[in-house]
Amino acid sequence: MIKDNKTLELTALYEISKILGSSLNLKTTLRGVMRVLSEYLDMRRGTVALRSDHEVSIVAAHGMSEDEIRRGRYRLGEGIIGRVAKLGSPIVIPNIGDEPLFLNKTGARQMIRKENIAFLCVPIKFKNDVLGVLSVDRLFVSRGISFEEDLRLLKIIASLIAQSVKLHQEVEREREAFQEEKELLTHQLKGRFRVENIIGQSDRMQEVFEAIHQVAPSKANVLLRGESGTGKELVSKAIHYMSPRAKQAFIKFNCASIPEGLLESELFGHEKGAFTGATAMRKGRFELAHTGTIFLDEIGDLPLTLQPKILRVLQEKEFERVGGERTLKVDVRLIAATSRDLEELVSSGRFREDLYYRLNVVPILLPALRERPEDIPLLAEHFLKKYNEENRKSVSISPEVLGLFMSYDWPGNVREIENTIERLVVMTPGRSITLSDVPLNIRDRSIRTRSQTPARDALPSTIADIEKANILDALNRTGWVQAKAARILGITARQIGYKMKRYGISGVK
Ligand SMILES: Nc1ncnc2c1ncn2[C@@H]1O[C@H](COP(=O)(O)OP(=O)(O)OP(=O)(O)O)[C@@H](O)[C@H]1O
Ligand SMILES: [Mg+2]
Repeated sequence: MIKDNKTLELTALYEISKILGSSLNLKTTLRGVMRVLSEYLDMRRGTVALRSDHEVSIVAAHGMSEDEIRRGRYRLGEGIIGRVAKLGSPIVIPNIGDEPLFLNKTGARQMIRKENIAFLCVPIKFKNDVLGVLSVDRLFVSRGISFEEDLRLLKIIASLIAQSVKLHQEVEREREAFQEEKELLTHQLKGRFRVENIIGQSDRMQEVFEAIHQVAPSKANVLLRGESGTGKELVSKAIHYMSPRAKQAFIKFNCASIPEGLLESELFGHEKGAFTGATAMRKGRFELAHTGTIFLDEIGDLPLTLQPKILRVLQEKEFERVGGERTLKVDVRLIAATSRDLEELVSSGRFREDLYYRLNVVPILLPALRERPEDIPLLAEHFLKKYNEENRKSVSISPEVLGLFMSYDWPGNVREIENTIERLVVMTPGRSITLSDVPLNIRDRSIRTRSQTPARDALPSTIADIEKANILDALNRTGWVQAKAARILGITARQIGYKMKRYGISGVK
């Protein structure tokens, strides 16, 4: 291999170390190394194989086709390459034609008569770890040739390769760790801030989203509390569709919607002839919800007489149809909702305590809109877009109207703001919704609300409220970048800071 020429050997080593340091793409650099070996030294074929847990496979080669390279995989201990990988010491085969261990798995040497080839194989070692195997073939003319010089050079090259492979592995490991961390963070961010179709960036709504994410995958009963129009039904659907039951039925039933006498048969079904008019068997809501989710709205209106039956189906998962003898089994997840004061119903004896505890496993309280005014601009924008699209219009809301919306107390919560905006989009003749378009009840009530709040400093409360609303709006529009919001408002960054403090607006969002 070495034409007794030290200079040639040194040049090759120099070239190889240059190539190994040139790029982090291991395959490319190893291919470069093999090319240098073949150019400077008298070699026919060379391979670099790298070790994984149970095998070594060729990753770069000189004088072999892609196909031959792909076939070059050896179990530890298999063939010569597998042996060197396993034992960690070099093997020299002076004449592969005489060697039964020689597998010729890759088929690369079909063309040459085996007996003319010597095979040198050294481990690529880093400290005591065998990272792979470097092997080289050379033609030889006479038997009895000394391979010692060749072996010495190959060992040096293998140790250069080892350092490069090690470095590459470290970089790769770090990159993977970084990637994992990045994915985790993105996942957490998504999980924290979003539930499809539900709008809200306020801390209160963020808590709700977090609870939804936590409870959705489980089978736990959920109790949704909140005033009318706060989104209880919307949340119940979100939980179902984010749960493993998403593809099964979502059955909704309002306990206040029908007379007491008909409730049982609605919920549990009835057999044919159970009562006058029961001309056929009918399945109840629980049966229809089997393997899915049942949403019992206005659970606080459930009559006392029916409460034990609901408790039983939750605890024992069984019930009978009205007029039926047979006990039926169901697997149902329950989500209940109420805007009533259940604790008060319990203490006045109108709601069973045991049922209350069964339902209240995971309570989620939906905040009233007036408790999170910072969500009002977002909701307004959301519904404006929705109803503009529905009505093929493109009206906008003037800042004064938004200010008014933010100071109004919205007793009907999100449903009320949604209905108000729908009406305004439909009824407003112009391109912009202005104060005079807004229904009187909102204008009146918002003034009443404002006069109830104590005046801040010397400013009349109405102006203070509108100013606060405008600041909040500007902050929301600029993603809470104070300097940008100040520019919109035509004031300095210092001024907006001062005003935010004065109105108790926290700068961190
Ligand atoms: N955070 C929200 N984002 C977007 N839309 C919402 C949100 N909250 C509620 N809505 C919408 O407001 C309307 C009322 O919501 P929903 O019916 O879920 O309220 P509810 O709490 O069940 O009210 P009720 O107690 O009166 O039955 C629906 O059209 C719903 O889509
Ligand atoms: Mg509802």
